[in-house]
Amino acid sequence: MALRQKKPLDLTPYKVPVHIAIIMDGNGRWARRRGLPRIAGHRAGAENLRRIINACVEFEVQILTIYAFSTENWGRPESEVRGLMKIFARVLDQELDDLHKQGVCLHHLGDLTGIDPTLQEKVRNALKLTKNNTRLILNVAFNYGGRAEILHAMRKMLADNISPDELTEEMVSSYLFTRGLPDPDLVIRTSGELRISNFLIWQAAYAEYYPTPAYWPDFGREELYEAIIAFNQRHRRFGLVAEDS
Ligand code: FPP
Repeated sequence: MALRQKKPLDLTPYKVPVHIAIIMDGNGRWARRRGLPRIAGHRAGAENLRRIINACVEFEVQILTIYAFSTENWGRPESEVRGLMKIFARVLDQELDDLHKQGVCLHHLGDLTGIDPTLQEKVRNALKLTKNNTRLILNVAFNYGGRAEILHAMRKMLADNISPDELTEEMVSSYLFTRGLPDPDLVIRTSGELRISNFLIWQAAYAEYYPTPAYWPDFGREELYEAIIAFNQRHRRFGLVAEDS
């Protein structure tokens, strides 16, 4: 069988966002459109994640944050939650060695308590194995919610006896799960939804937002390239005025 040639995509004239965050949405609709069960959409989503990680390495993105499972996702039918947990475990079993060889450093954003102990163990092993890798930081938001993250940070700051006059934005950032990492430059949401859905609500305050109608399993390397080009057409002002105004 002939291998499909990868289309050359040149980003030389462009600025590549240092940190890209993705709300991987539309797996269920992707499956329904094909008359398949929702879990088939999640499986296709997991395969696509591999393509996007490869593309991030190719495009020299330094940090990729993905919304894998929100604190609200526990409310889905039990069979779907179980299916998703199986996919996460299988991806760790099957992909970890390759990710490690590729230089991917895994971080977890969220709360592991309440997760099946075997899966917790797999996640901890993956974090430990990849902790010194530097090619791409892959933050996996898993059992994650933005408000819960801020609440968790507030509790820790109180426990550390931080006084009100010591408190700064930088300090709050240093108590979040993303501590030490720059904020996302670009937040992509697939499937045409226009919501932030409790994702990185502190960190994405000044991120550029890129909604795309593509369902997550269809959002590939070329679509990521388009998103980076679109990012280059934005004028980031961080609350200031445009230079030419
Ligand atoms: C949203 O689609 C997707 C999710 C809630 C789960 C994301 C999980 C994956 C992409 C699987 C792979 C991830 C890892 C970390 C291995 P949806 O179900 O909300 O789609 P819908 O809005 O069309 O119903």
